[in-house]
Amino acid sequence: MTPRKAKALDSLKARYEMKKGAIMFITIDGGDGSGKGLQLELIKKWLVERRVDFVFFRDPGDTALGDLIRSLLLDRSDLAICAKSELALFMASRAQLVSEKIRPALQEGKTVLVDRYLLSTVVYQGYAVGADEKEIVRAWDVGRILVDDVMPDLTFVLDCPPEIAFQRLNRKRDRIESKGFEYHLRVAQGYRDAVKNWSGRAPGEAFLIDASVPPESVFEKIKDVLETRLNRF
Ligand code: TYD
Repeated sequence: MTPRKAKALDSLKARYEMKKGAIMFITIDGGDGSGKGLQLELIKKWLVERRVDFVFFRDPGDTALGDLIRSLLLDRSDLAICAKSELALFMASRAQLVSEKIRPALQEGKTVLVDRYLLSTVVYQGYAVGADEKEIVRAWDVGRILVDDVMPDLTFVLDCPPEIAFQRLNRKRDRIESKGFEYHLRVAQGYRDAVKNWSGRAPGEAFLIDASVPPESVFEKIKDVLETRLNRF
């Protein structure tokens, strides 16, 4: 084979690999009971069908340190955790997840799907505790420093009024879920405000999706975005 032909073949192969890999960092976020679990299953199924090589993680958790922090934050209602410690612990768990799992996976060319990410901290430990705009910007900035700016390309935010969402939570509530209705109203509004003010604070794109409708309709919207994104490669 001539060197010119070999070069052309290499470039074709590279393009094929890129299309097959369609590297993306995707996160899904939203209030408790917004139906995230079901949408995650549908996204995973879609990725498998499209033969996208992906890995899935949940935040907080999915490292040895992260799992310990997760159980401190969610299961220990006996433990006093002040607002700033809560914020720092969620951020520490994520820093570990990025360093141990997310960055290496992205470097290997895998697509990464994560259940919650920095946006959760900005909303639950920021907007929902009454942080002002300056504090919100600081939370984004500190959060981005701690993940070395490893940030999602795509974020799906499920928007569901807590009145509906809490009817779906028919199990024992964790420490965060037990924070009361008013808190979760501020969480829901926080997500809307965060998406509205996305640009300049976080890279990538965020999509606010009405999650009060049946799950199939929610997934249709997610799928449209994913299809468009995959076809870009
Ligand atoms: P989890 O069991 O993962 O809930 P869900 O299935 O709703 O995602 O618990 C995570 C809880 O932690 C959830 O109530 C949201 C909260 N959380 C924060 O308050 N800050 C954060 O930064 C993250 C990632 C989660």
